[in-house]
Amino acid sequence: LQQVRPAPHSTDFQNPRNFSMIIVTGGCGFIGANFILDWLRQSDEPIINVDKLTYAGNPATLASLQGDARYHFVQGDIGDSALFDRLLMQNPRAVINFAAESHVDRSIHGPADFIETNVSGTFRLLESVRAHWQGLDDAAKSAFRFLHVSTDEVYGTLTDTDPAFSETTPYAPNSPYSASKAASDHLVRAWHHTYGLPVLTTNCSNNYGPYQFPEKLIPLILLNAVAGKPLPIYGDGLNVRDWLYVTDHCSAIRRVLEAGKVGETYNIGGCNEKTNLDVVHTLCAMLDELKPRANGRYADQITFVKDRPGHDRRYAIDARKIERELGWKPAETFETGIRKTVQWYLDNADWVANVQTGAYREWVQTQYQEAPACASASAPASA
Ligand code: NAD
Ligand code: TYD
Repeated sequence: LQQVRPAPHSTDFQNPRNFSMIIVTGGCGFIGANFILDWLRQSDEPIINVDKLTYAGNPATLASLQGDARYHFVQGDIGDSALFDRLLMQNPRAVINFAAESHVDRSIHGPADFIETNVSGTFRLLESVRAHWQGLDDAAKSAFRFLHVSTDEVYGTLTDTDPAFSETTPYAPNSPYSASKAASDHLVRAWHHTYGLPVLTTNCSNNYGPYQFPEKLIPLILLNAVAGKPLPIYGDGLNVRDWLYVTDHCSAIRRVLEAGKVGETYNIGGCNEKTNLDVVHTLCAMLDELKPRANGRYADQITFVKDRPGHDRRYAIDARKIERELGWKPAETFETGIRKTVQWYLDNADWVANVQTGAYREWVQTQYQEAPACASASAPASA
């Protein structure tokens, strides 16, 4: 395997049957790419990355792996059964499914892609993996894992006083995105219960860190701030999210893959509940320190805009199970993680410019034209 240097976008990857390797889907996105970089920093076990390269997929994130014999990229769809039937013949010990449509606001504007990839795509991927797994010998069958990466949003919304989401909280998704992820989680569960497929599911809270596409809150605010643009806050800005630095999510996935109990789900979170307004003020204060404006402060750019329809009020993760059973804990606090993130976006203007394509500008136009500003920083709009 180490000598093989296959052409990009091809499936002519050769793996002797006993060589340990994994397949990752959606590895050109934010979390998948961080996962691959992190994996190959710590291990020589090869990865095949299958990514469709939607607007959210950026091969440039993985440019440092060009020519690395441990990494192979295939452009493809998780719903392409013929492709997966071929790739699975390389005999991975695990498939980790990151691929998804992942942005709530886009799911409100156009839910069809979310159903296609997150529901139908996951179904077809499960079917390919099941057919492969059923043909393995007993030892390989019991060693194999299908790890499905999901979100805390499947649990719906919390009031200020509700306990955090645990693995037994009933599913109550509220957006087309979370409903499609909930459906995929149910399929994964059913493929274990019905066919015995050795699955693991992780439900993680909001991630932040390097390489996040700047349509999500934290990178959007950072880039708008330094560009002198308004910092759009939906509603009253008091919605709460539980933030986790992306490499902590990656370490949790590695730990679940290594030691998670087949058929179980694991909630992953950082115990960092913050209102959106708190997050944005933290980002502004950090920019005031690291890249001060010529006049005034970044917080002056805060603008309250029309709320997101069906906006979940609060997410919070109870991560005691993964800590108790697998010994996982996040390494970063919100303060250390956010400082690294701000510095990364300031230091990586090329990556940022590369993703701010015409398609990105069109999205910003669609989303923020339709959400007109309703108040300045000092006068929050009611939700
Ligand atoms: P992302 O949108 O940044 O990346 C998704 C990747 O999947 C992209 O590279 C895209 O090209 C690829 N993709 C989309 N449709 C595909 C298809 N049909 N076939 C193959 N590839 C396809 O998403 P992300 O933030 O990296 O999230 C990764 C996973 O983690 C998702 O499943 C998401 O639901 C989950 N998750 C994300 C967060 C978060 O805060 N970002 C939190 C918890 C869970
Ligand atoms: P987002 O990053 O889209 O993640 P999610 O919706 O999956 O939690 O949004 C995080 C929070 O920030 C969410 O409460 C919506 C809010 N938000 C804004 O206030 N303004 C924005 O421009 C965006 C993109 C999000």
